[in-house]
Amino acid sequence: MSQESLTVTDNRTGKTYELPITDGTIRTMDLRQIKVDDQDFGVMGYDTAFKNTAATRSKITFIDGAKGILRHRGYPVEQLAANASFLEVAYLVLFGELPNAEQYAQWEHDIVHHTLVHENLRTFLDGFRYDAHPMGILISSIAALSTFYPEAKNVFDPESVELQTRRLVAKMPTMAAFAYRHSMGFPYVYPDNDLSYVGNFLNMMFKMTELKYKPNPIVERALEILWILHIDHEQNCSTTTMRGIGSSQADPYVAVAGAAAALSGPLHGGANERVLRMLAHIGSVENIPAYLKRVEAGEERLMGFGHRVYKNYDPRARIIKDFAHQLFEVTGRTPMLNIALELEERALNEDYFAKRKLYPNVDFYSGIIYQALGIPTNMFTVMFAIPRTVGWLAQWRELLGDPEQKIARPRQIYDGIMLRDFVPMTERS
Ligand code: SDX
Repeated sequence: MSQESLTVTDNRTGKTYELPITDGTIRTMDLRQIKVDDQDFGVMGYDTAFKNTAATRSKITFIDGAKGILRHRGYPVEQLAANASFLEVAYLVLFGELPNAEQYAQWEHDIVHHTLVHENLRTFLDGFRYDAHPMGILISSIAALSTFYPEAKNVFDPESVELQTRRLVAKMPTMAAFAYRHSMGFPYVYPDNDLSYVGNFLNMMFKMTELKYKPNPIVERALEILWILHIDHEQNCSTTTMRGIGSSQADPYVAVAGAAAALSGPLHGGANERVLRMLAHIGSVENIPAYLKRVEAGEERLMGFGHRVYKNYDPRARIIKDFAHQLFEVTGRTPMLNIALELEERALNEDYFAKRKLYPNVDFYSGIIYQALGIPTNMFTVMFAIPRTVGWLAQWRELLGDPEQKIARPRQIYDGIMLRDFVPMTERS
């Protein structure tokens, strides 16, 4: 009997089964042999929200939730945030290695030359109400983009996959900025290819009547660090959605649109916007104790706290918090930062949070920095979607290259009415 195995006894039949353990997991399909008789379907695993289910192998991102570790292709996120540009990390996450100078120059050229979107997309955007939420506009625009590139449906054509990858990485900032400009009633600003990937986004967001937009280098680097910290995070809700849609061999545009839709939820990427609204609602440091009481009573959630995987401080939150202090030396502290710092301090000393291992996550401080950078609150989740598109694409490419993967189709436990005959309308009570 192999040591790397479980021996399971089915007490209904007295039979025992040996289930191999590989990389700390058993194959749930190995449970299906456990039956009471030949008619029996066999035992399944039951795991709502996949809390304890590995759905794939991956080489992209490693997280150790207990130790607060996050690495992309083996590189600690702290080192990437401190030393790399966003496009360098995007290249690493997508292709597995940091680019050399020649590869980086080609990659940057490829991205810069795909930043424009088809002019029809502008008229598409004009169909939205003036006050439409930018995230709703972005999700729709990404899906609409699939109609401009029908060849993207050839998901096993390597050339098409590379071209769509470049297009999506390049066009997300443009579509995001257009969504913002539309919601503000401002004219659209076209890409300026003299600027960096991040600088060009700031240009498309904030350029008004000046001839040439010059991004503030501190703001540009702050945003770049935030985007590096948001680039991928293994099998989170939106990535699982990306893989689910990708598993049906749908094109990457509709898959990214679906992933962005999942990200928009307040428990996921929508949390950063909710954090700012929560801090504004609390209003002052004096109101924090009363708010925490409502959280502990289950009446409120402390947005930006807690994580399915991190049962320690989210390493991204730590980096962002440290960076917030540096940035606010320059831009000046905001009342929101004071409330956030005091709220974190008090919460971490409350038994309710310690018992549940609830610590600040990436969203707790990111919104405060976005606000200091002049990004409007309703754009915060859009700011999350732009860098995360790289992660979604990397995970999608990995899925398509995995010979084990099939269309995602979980099972269920049926506990509805098993059988009954149709009743004519006239005989129904
Ligand atoms: C992201 O998965 C990822 O990697 C996501 C992400 C990424 O990069 O992709 O890291 C980005 O989504 C970060 C999370 C942003 N969301 C929020 O900040 C929203 C607030 N957080 C929670 O809603 C919650 O913590 C989740 C959704 C993040 C995690 O939820 P879980 O793992 O399902 O935990 P749970 O809801 O089962 O909570 C366990 C307990 C419960 O209490 P009891 O029922 O045991 O009494 O902790 C409580 C919860 O009520 N709890 C909270 C809380 N989070 C959990 N109580 C108050 N405030 C909170 N924020």
